[in-house]
Amino acid sequence: MSPESSKDLLAYTPMLHARMFIETVKFRDHHFQPTRSGLATPAKRSTNGPPPDLYLDGHPKIDRPLFVQFCANSPDELLEAARYVEPFCDAVDLNLGCPQGIAKRGNYGAFLQEDWDLIYKLINKLHLNLDVPVTAKMRILESKEKTLEYAQMILSAGASVVTVHGRQRDQKGHKTGMADWSVLRYLRANLPPDTVIFANGNILRHGDIHQCLKETGADGVMSAEGNLYDPAIFAKPPDAGSDEREYWRGRDGRGGYRVDAVFRRYMDILYEYVLERPSPARKPLFLPSDPLAQEISVTSNGVAEDDCEPPAKKRKRDSKQLKPTSPNLLAMQPHLFHLLRPLVTKYHNVRDALGRSRPGDIAAFENVLQMVEAVVKEGILDYEADPAKYEESDLPDEKEQAANLDKEESSVATIKECKRPWWVCQPYVRPLLKEALAKGSLTMSKKDKRKLEEEKVLAKATTEQGGKSAREQLDEEDGMNQEEMPKEAMVAG
Ligand SMILES: Cc1cc2nc3c(=O)[nH]c(=O)nc-3n(C[C@H](O)[C@H](O)[C@H](O)COP(=O)(O)O)c2cc1C
Repeated sequence: MSPESSKDLLAYTPMLHARMFIETVKFRDHHFQPTRSGLATPAKRSTNGPPPDLYLDGHPKIDRPLFVQFCANSPDELLEAARYVEPFCDAVDLNLGCPQGIAKRGNYGAFLQEDWDLIYKLINKLHLNLDVPVTAKMRILESKEKTLEYAQMILSAGASVVTVHGRQRDQKGHKTGMADWSVLRYLRANLPPDTVIFANGNILRHGDIHQCLKETGADGVMSAEGNLYDPAIFAKPPDAGSDEREYWRGRDGRGGYRVDAVFRRYMDILYEYVLERPSPARKPLFLPSDPLAQEISVTSNGVAEDDCEPPAKKRKRDSKQLKPTSPNLLAMQPHLFHLLRPLVTKYHNVRDALGRSRPGDIAAFENVLQMVEAVVKEGILDYEADPAKYEESDLPDEKEQAANLDKEESSVATIKECKRPWWVCQPYVRPLLKEALAKGSLTMSKKDKRKLEEEKVLAKATTEQGGKSAREQLDEEDGMNQEEMPKEAMVAG
């Protein structure tokens, strides 16, 4: 991204458990590293300037703007946790969206949404006591009117930004479905015009960002999964015809950033900021138009199909030198599996080499990169030889499936729209519930079937009663109302 366009970016930390954050030094050190010496005590914003040993998180030159996100159910704990991070971020965010079982058992995230009084207190405590703004991430509720009331309460407590995930709490797992942007539009129309709203959900590709802003009237979009599969999702595609090695375009004009290019950039960022040593010299990325002598040859880089282990001595030295507890190194393998999903589905040797790459073993990851560069070259050459092969649909039965399901129930059109050759970053489009059931790729467990039936009955019975919602009754039946701390204290959601 150009320096100008990257000014539009804002990053959130993963959700941190407030109580764990204040109680466990190790947890703080492993998950938030604004200084090399760690965070022994809350560091109030100093008038004497920033601490001398600034490190990664919230670094003014490389990691701003940054919102630090917590989950909490005690205003005092939340404030104490926020005090540690406030000198290193631009806002503290409260997660009210996590729908996972662990959040239910721990009583945080979306499971606070019945307790508006507590939510108000959590947000207001930060609003009144922190030097940085407080923001919140919420899910939509059962109706647009109720969602508006909920957002109004959050804003009245002092939230400066409200991020709205356009799905309800029970839309997770196989029930995820589509986010409802119309509720966001309704919020935009009914909240004061100066309210800052970020929209979340359904952002699969770069083009969806503009579409979402247009349809919802939101001020920004948040992307999670789309950004994992395509880390270049916020980057505008280069102009057609530009000599751009990192971006591949097919003869139909459709394209995307190349996985080998993004993989390289990822490695180089890690070298610069985490490993703090120069990255290896790299040849230019392969282009079929390159003169032959300049080409990266599959054989010249020494990567054979089954030769995926670097020399044992080098591997040992590397893993000794590095700190495999660094969150940046621990995240490498899962990040790369997301980035390379379409590629490793085809090249199992790359999948296995990545699967064997341990945190901190940079030589092993470099080796995977070389393998990726080699197969991307193969793929691009194969495309040059026979582009039609890559333009044919490989979605069997799609017409049949689409005919039986309406747009909200079928992902066929979206898959077709998003599909690129496997050397290009692209979203993973999950089949929607009915589709997966129809295809037989998903079968409902007896428990799920029972729940679905129960929900239908309960929804009917409780609509007019004004009593507990179907979801609340089911939650109680589950017997999961005991508070639980997550083992790792950091849960996606
Ligand atoms: C791997 C993963 C981790 C996530 N972690 C968080 C989190 O820490 N905090 C949060 O508010 N949401 C988290 N989410 C949820 C996303 O922020 C987002 O609400 C949801 O995935 C829908 O948006 P998307 O379609 O852009 O993925 C996570 C989602 C994924 C897939």
